[in-house]
Amino acid sequence: MLAGADLLAEVEGWMDRLFVAAPGARLRTEDRRKAVEVAAMLVEVRRAAERCGQKEGRAVQPALTLVDAAAGKTYMGLLAAHLALRRGTHEPGLVVAIEREPQRAGVATAAARELHRLTADALPVDVRIGDVRDEGLWPSEPDIVVALHACGPAADVIIDQAIARQAKHLLLVPCCTGDAIDVMKHAQDTAVRLGIPRHAPVRRRFLQAFVDAARTWRLEAAGYETEVIEFCAPTTTPHNLMWRARRVKEPNRQARARAELERLLTGQ
Ligand SMILES: C[S@@+](CC[C@H](N)C(=O)[O-])C[C@H]1O[C@@H](n2cnc3c(N)ncnc32)[C@H](O)[C@@H]1O
Repeated sequence: MLAGADLLAEVEGWMDRLFVAAPGARLRTEDRRKAVEVAAMLVEVRRAAERCGQKEGRAVQPALTLVDAAAGKTYMGLLAAHLALRRGTHEPGLVVAIEREPQRAGVATAAARELHRLTADALPVDVRIGDVRDEGLWPSEPDIVVALHACGPAADVIIDQAIARQAKHLLLVPCCTGDAIDVMKHAQDTAVRLGIPRHAPVRRRFLQAFVDAARTWRLEAAGYETEVIEFCAPTTTPHNLMWRARRVKEPNRQARARAELERLLTGQ
């Protein structure tokens, strides 16, 4: 498996082949930034896959199911299918991409067709058009759920679905935060109660920290050992935090997290 600069070059090459591929056209600056994010996520996908039992050099790999949620053009799903996950000898495994915007899902479907035309060793990619809220779009018990820049409330829905589907691993990079997020009312009330000034840069940071804290405790309370890491530099994207969560189901840890979540939401 490639790493570092080699992996980034490979990601850029495949993005070019699958999404640009016009004579004279090249990846734009924002595409190159996206490639940096995707390469960093692929390293995490590979690590999660190894924890699920996929090992380098092993002849027979267990089949894995990966969900790319709020997938957009499903850069992550497609490149994970080719560059991070290995075909099992017995079962092929599956990548499911869920995207509600039909035009983007159409681009993803065409890119998946092209990927499989160009290479035989990528996992099948099933692009499903619809809302991540729709339970029928999700496979049961996926091994890995990834969501790169899941906007606003989609990040919380994906957390809920990963928990409900008993996903083994969740790699979540939330995006923008706004009033549509469930805990935002708690965050705003708490800001007022604690005397956080209304000055936008100060208030915004507090609200973001509150939302981030609630997501962390919610995952922990549901049995996920959760780390929050900067998966790439803030100059690549200001939304550079990844929730890296692994289902461990430790009752004491869950009870502690439930108590902390309660304290966060009620102030007691
Ligand atoms: C910021 S884009 C990121 C796309 C992709 N993951 C990437 O990093 O290139 C967010 C995507 O999530 C999709 N989306 C937002 N809310 C969604 C929902 N509730 N269900 C399904 N897709 C959703 C949007 O249509 C958009 O394509």
